[in-house]
Amino acid sequence: MGEESKKWVLTVTAQTPTNIAVIKYWGKRDENLILPINDSISVTLDPEHLCTTTSVAVSPSFDQDCMWLNGKEFSLAGGRYQRCLKEIRSRACDYVDEKKGIKITKKEWENLHVHIASYNNFPTAAGLASSAAGFACLVFALAKLMNVKDDLGTLSSIARQGSGSACRSLYGGFAKWIMGKNDNGSDSIAVQLADEKHWDDLVIVIAVVSSRQKETSSTTGMRETVETSMLIQHRAKEVVPKRIVEMEEAIKNRDFPSFSRLACADSNQFHAVCLDTLPPIFYMNDTIISCVEKWNRSEESPQVAYTFDAGPNAVLIARNRKAAALLLQRLLFFFPPHSDADLSSYVIGDKSILQDAG
Ligand code: DP6
Repeated sequence: MGEESKKWVLTVTAQTPTNIAVIKYWGKRDENLILPINDSISVTLDPEHLCTTTSVAVSPSFDQDCMWLNGKEFSLAGGRYQRCLKEIRSRACDYVDEKKGIKITKKEWENLHVHIASYNNFPTAAGLASSAAGFACLVFALAKLMNVKDDLGTLSSIARQGSGSACRSLYGGFAKWIMGKNDNGSDSIAVQLADEKHWDDLVIVIAVVSSRQKETSSTTGMRETVETSMLIQHRAKEVVPKRIVEMEEAIKNRDFPSFSRLACADSNQFHAVCLDTLPPIFYMNDTIISCVEKWNRSEESPQVAYTFDAGPNAVLIARNRKAAALLLQRLLFFFPPHSDADLSSYVIGDKSILQDAG
């Protein structure tokens, strides 16, 4: 290739929000392909908050694949990154830009290197599903760059191989990750249950109790749970399948009492199987649970649902803006500004940061 033809650079930038599971994925039946032991359901947050922005570039002048995460060089050596890159490259299609004189054939994509710059606007690995937004965004951006024609279901099965929960972040609104039956994972994909307009009364408040990195990663934690917990099989086989049906119905009917009951129960059962793991895993913050439980019980019907992922930060889903404002008052009572707890509360649906006491 001559020096002139090495001058071009093609770039694509994508932005993907994180998603919060309201029926949790916890446990794999295949560690390499990332195949789960149960279906899961999530809500995808507003793109303005808690999202990853990823720019991907390709040029004949790049001599290796490189990545920067939050401005720091980041190794792409891990199997998960390599698998996503390989899957996308194998689906790349011919690309032609007559004006710029760029022509890349399907075959040539395999030998072109990419540069990836990714930025999270929220704490990485603190139980706020940073890997979900990260891999979903990476796969989506690479697919656009390499002119991949496959649908979102297929892209979700590629993102899944980066991080399980990432497959759900390719959709707005509510998404379901179908665990699938095939050994090769071809039917383990995410689908959209309802779009972002379907239930727009909901206000999601994230209480960042700590932005420290979690002690046990989800990957390690769920492996240990599958290996040692007696409760996990009961959860995956008996409890979750029924909850999935009920949660789909609650979302379809915008039935907040059922939604709240199921989300809180599922979060609590997920943390119960964590506690049933050897050695036990502790993630959540019980002050927030007691506060919400007490409040919900004192009202005619629940005002807020809570759910915790693999970290101490609470995701609180208020039934409407009035409930969200009352919730913030209560949270500030338990975590006053400048207390040790370092609480920052972000009102997601409201598109404004109401309180950042950090
Ligand atoms: C508690 O998707 O981070 O957030 O597939 O090993 O990358 P890997 O795990 P990850 O696990 C997320 C677990 C969870 C629940 C959920 O998002 O469903």
